[in-house]
Amino acid sequence: MKLASTASFNWTSLLLIVAFCSFITPAVSVKHENFKTCDQSGFCKRNRAYADTALSDSKWESPYILDQSTVRFDQGILTGIVNKKIINSDEIVRLPLTVAFYESGTARVSIDEEKRQKGEIELRHNSKAKKQRYNEAEKWAIVGGTTVSTGAATSKDTDAGTTKVVYGPGSKFEAVIRHSPFGVDFKRDGETQIRFNDRGLMNVEHWRKQVEKPKEEKKEGEEAVVAEPDKEMAEDESTWWDESFGGATDTKPRGPEAVALDVSFPGYQHVYGIAEHTGPLSLKETRGGEGKHSDPYRLHNSDVFEYEEDSPMTLYGSIPFMQAHKKDSTVGVFWLNAAETWIDITKQSTSANPLSLGVGSATTTQAHWISESGILDMFVFLGPKPQDVIGAYTELTGYTQLPQHFSIAYHQCRWNYVTDEDVRDVDRKFDKHNIPYDVIWLDIEYTDGKKYFTWDPMTFPDPIGMNEQLDEHERKLVAIIDPHIKNDNYPVNDELKSKGLAVNNKEGNIYEGWCWPGSSTWVDCFNPKAREWWKGLFRYDKFKGTMKNVWIWNDMNEPSVFNGPETTMPKDNLHYGGWEHRDIHNVNGSTLVNATFDALLARDKEEDKHNVRPFILTRSFYSGSQRMGAMWTGDNQAAWPRLAESIPMVLSMGISGFPFAGADVGGFFGNPSKELLTRWYQVGAFYPFFRGHAHIDTRRREPYLAGDPYKAIITQALRLRYSLLPAWYTAFHEASVSGAPILRPHYYVHPGDEKGFGIDDQFYLGSYGLLAKPVTKEGQEAQDIYLADKETYFDYFDYWTYEGPGTVNVASPLENIPLLMQGGHIIPRRDRPRRSSGLMRYDPFTLVIVLGHSGDAEGVLYLDDGESFDFQEGAYIHRRFVYTGSTSSLMSEDLATTPGRKTKDYLKTMENVRVEKIIVVGAPASWKGKTEVEVSEEQARQSSGARMVPMEWHEQVEGKASWAVVRDPGVQIGSGWKIAFA
Ligand SMILES: *[C@@H]1O[C@H](CO)[C@@H](O)[C@H](O)[C@H]1NC(C)=O
Ligand SMILES: *[C@@H]1O[C@H](CO)[C@@H](O)[C@H](O)[C@H]1NC(C)=O
Repeated sequence: MKLASTASFNWTSLLLIVAFCSFITPAVSVKHENFKTCDQSGFCKRNRAYADTALSDSKWESPYILDQSTVRFDQGILTGIVNKKIINSDEIVRLPLTVAFYESGTARVSIDEEKRQKGEIELRHNSKAKKQRYNEAEKWAIVGGTTVSTGAATSKDTDAGTTKVVYGPGSKFEAVIRHSPFGVDFKRDGETQIRFNDRGLMNVEHWRKQVEKPKEEKKEGEEAVVAEPDKEMAEDESTWWDESFGGATDTKPRGPEAVALDVSFPGYQHVYGIAEHTGPLSLKETRGGEGKHSDPYRLHNSDVFEYEEDSPMTLYGSIPFMQAHKKDSTVGVFWLNAAETWIDITKQSTSANPLSLGVGSATTTQAHWISESGILDMFVFLGPKPQDVIGAYTELTGYTQLPQHFSIAYHQCRWNYVTDEDVRDVDRKFDKHNIPYDVIWLDIEYTDGKKYFTWDPMTFPDPIGMNEQLDEHERKLVAIIDPHIKNDNYPVNDELKSKGLAVNNKEGNIYEGWCWPGSSTWVDCFNPKAREWWKGLFRYDKFKGTMKNVWIWNDMNEPSVFNGPETTMPKDNLHYGGWEHRDIHNVNGSTLVNATFDALLARDKEEDKHNVRPFILTRSFYSGSQRMGAMWTGDNQAAWPRLAESIPMVLSMGISGFPFAGADVGGFFGNPSKELLTRWYQVGAFYPFFRGHAHIDTRRREPYLAGDPYKAIITQALRLRYSLLPAWYTAFHEASVSGAPILRPHYYVHPGDEKGFGIDDQFYLGSYGLLAKPVTKEGQEAQDIYLADKETYFDYFDYWTYEGPGTVNVASPLENIPLLMQGGHIIPRRDRPRRSSGLMRYDPFTLVIVLGHSGDAEGVLYLDDGESFDFQEGAYIHRRFVYTGSTSSLMSEDLATTPGRKTKDYLKTMENVRVEKIIVVGAPASWKGKTEVEVSEEQARQSSGARMVPMEWHEQVEGKASWAVVRDPGVQIGSGWKIAFA
């Protein structure tokens, strides 16, 4: 073990950690007692009880009534007042309602509470908190798509007691707003797709004055003893004003303020989304029963140590976006709320219900959304295609950033590369063993005693020398910067405190908690001044030892606080603007990444006016974080089931607008067997974010240490990734303009094929028809792959032919990745082995034409400098390759739509980049005996005319396709040309 022999490793700090976080010793699995169940979370328990009462009482009527006289509709926005009747009282609570209809076809229902809105409430505990419900999640999450529709109109054909609004593309959507009780039905083409409050579970906990109870009912730090309920709907008040968990008491200056809504999807059997959780892509029911969860899915960003398989427990990030899918129809909702949230899911058989039209789809899925505070704010997407829903959601929350090219190649990480010499040594060894990699990472130990923005002078005396060595092969360094600041005499902490930029506790004093450095403070990224200050810290003259090839990893930003409730911050902490931590918890982590993004932009702009795209990896995230970088699934384990579970997790991120996702290759905790490590690289080669990582207690496992045959097989997996980088980068480009997932589950690609809706262990890469099902089980020598369509599929490596639909069996000995090519696509590759992706910049291309039933094929390539924002000024190549069967010809067409002032210069740099090979898989038998193809270039067509270039023909043998190769057709990747094969 290298680690033990490195004398300068900072053991003191590790001991410190062990002392403060008892959980650092590897345990078997998550400590459930550290995290709340619904029953231990006051507002969740109250709302589940509310649901139970509502659903068990046949006379139950939701007490929310839209006052018809208040309803106004003006320019795409409906407003009104929903009155909440207080049971057994004459009191009425006024809840302002807004229903907005956007140009995109998205609708939005928002409900606030008038008294809190106007600040007409009293705070308890002498709190300095704001009186309003939090309404600024939008500020962080929403960046577009909110142009109000001018076409939306109230419908004349209105039944008594409803208001109808017709909206959306072609006026195909309709919102039927029911007045009493309040509810909304969303229809598409006259058919109801989504219903709000149809089960009557909507609940907006209104402000009320605390009535002091006799003393003996409650002791400090204990749950209150609830008085015997005397009314039918007696509410459980025990958690209204204070709530304790794990020895910490949360004080609630505004009292109970949860918001909840039931949302039904009639006829929809599957729901997906609400990342991040472990378990299947198609979400499970949550109210108990065989094979079901018994707790709701929870969203409360937390550092869940050794999280468990197939669980609704919260993880590090939250995307409160859910899609429902049935045959040929997808719809969705987005619950914009940054507070702790729970979602119950149940399914009901509705065979008697004529609404469930789809054949065999006799199921209605019901979701019950519950958040602790904030306003009720729900967006509705009516599809009908999966991409319509994901596209509308990402139009609102932003598309994934077009990443730097290096960042979609392979990353090598471990906790920790212990010295700068260690980093250099790993770098040299990758070269010595001819294994490609692009980035090496430093975890927390590089710092001087966990003081971020410093280097340990003993172990990292020469960071610049180290970075320069990496730069020789265009490699990068990613260094970790966490949000906790060591509470010690060091300039960053001194400035943070003296400038008043830290998060405060409920008394308004600087909050101190424990994290890696011991006592820590936290920068309050909600404060614009704090963000400005944070920006300065990344300048090259401030963060000495960094240079242009250094990028950043934001970890622990849930935020993780070792001695905090549920390992995070107390909910009654106060942020800038007087918001409680309770209100903003789930967006909190993304504010740090946002500040870091801005900092890195500023760093390079100041240096040489060069606009470089920042690269940041984050552990915590919220809707919108996709605009700023990549995420990974946190601290997983080196175990086979964890390898399998990573696939649905990454797929789930992809359909949630955040496709730049991956899991730690090899598993963070524990030592993988060589077989597991090898298989993990084969899966990892398909993670959009591809990084090997390992815990400090594990043995070294850089790929070159694996020995034969593992080393060679891992290298092949890495080379596969590198060779397909043109396809990956194009898929990222597509995601960056449309929100489309990069790894695509079956329901997305084949929305009409019911057999595929639950499949989450195989997937397609981008729009290339590349269907992968890497092995995730020990000793598995063959893999069943489900083919959804009537099409020919070919083995990627040896062109073995399979016919869909149906299940086919593909051999999968250790050296094989089951990977098929669907007929009808053209796949761009770069096949020359290099040390890093940067060194492939001017490499020639190979185009693989895959011919299926139609005899036609098509594929797109997007290319730019891979690092700057020059593509926004036209510096890119965007081509479509079209093969037409009827004329046996391949054309390269220009897709570039926005030439700009940098187009010409960029094309000049690429003018010698050629197509070096064209492979036609499934080439027609009629080509047999042919030896030439005819090449004509767009520019030269008039003058020199066509040229003949040799073609090789390969006859079909035992189950494999016939194929043809044209070597060096003499055409450039960035220009127009035509090749006639017959
Ligand atoms: C939220 O988490 C960040 C880390 O991501 C931490 O610095 C901060 O203290 C917390 N609050 C805010 C508002 O940034
Ligand atoms: C970060 O937040 C600021 C302020 O809300 C916003 O202007 C900026 O666009 C955000 N950056 C990104 C990359 O989303």
